[in-house]
Amino acid sequence: MKHVFRTIAMTFVLCVAASPSFSESGKTKTYPPIDSDALEQFGGPEGVRNWVEGLFYYIMLDNRINHVFREFGNIERQIFLNTQFLQVVLGGNDVEYQGASMAAAHSDLAITVTQFNAVVEAAYNSCERIQLTYEACNLMIAGLAPYKHAIVTR
Ligand code: HEM
Repeated sequence: MKHVFRTIAMTFVLCVAASPSFSESGKTKTYPPIDSDALEQFGGPEGVRNWVEGLFYYIMLDNRINHVFREFGNIERQIFLNTQFLQVVLGGNDVEYQGASMAAAHSDLAITVTQFNAVVEAAYNSCERIQLTYEACNLMIAGLAPYKHAIVTR
């Protein structure tokens, strides 16, 4: 059953990510617009931080992608910036994202769809690890999906 949910969610993400669009203000939109209490559903800033730590735990266990992070990344910095970034994506107003744009941060890495999907898998595993609800987890996936376009360059 879990796999059925996952397949549906992945299909949704891939469809959404194939056609990103931008509002007039330049902010990336999600389909459907993300719930106003998405950050709260995620357990607030602390929930986001826990999830991001889990995300990097699973990323670093995955031989398809861990070498990229070992060579080009800085895990402590990325956990910090991803925690800020996800809070903003989930509608948090009290935090400012201080890192590079998704396009600038990933432009030299020649990231493939397969590598992107490996990060999505790590994202789902981290949701399971902290027992996040399916709804909250899928809100996060929907919020991040439009950035696929900027991150995958190969
Ligand atoms: C939705 C998916 C992703 C999000 C939200 C995301 C988010 C971020 C953020 C916030 C940063 C920090 C930017 C900065 O240092 O100013 C970053 C950097 C980085 N990301 Fe991603 N990322 C995603 C996917 C990926 C994928 C698929 C890979 C590789 C398999 C990857 C590899 C890296 C690496 C190596 C860096 C460090 C680059 C550097 O410091 O020069 N990311 N990412």
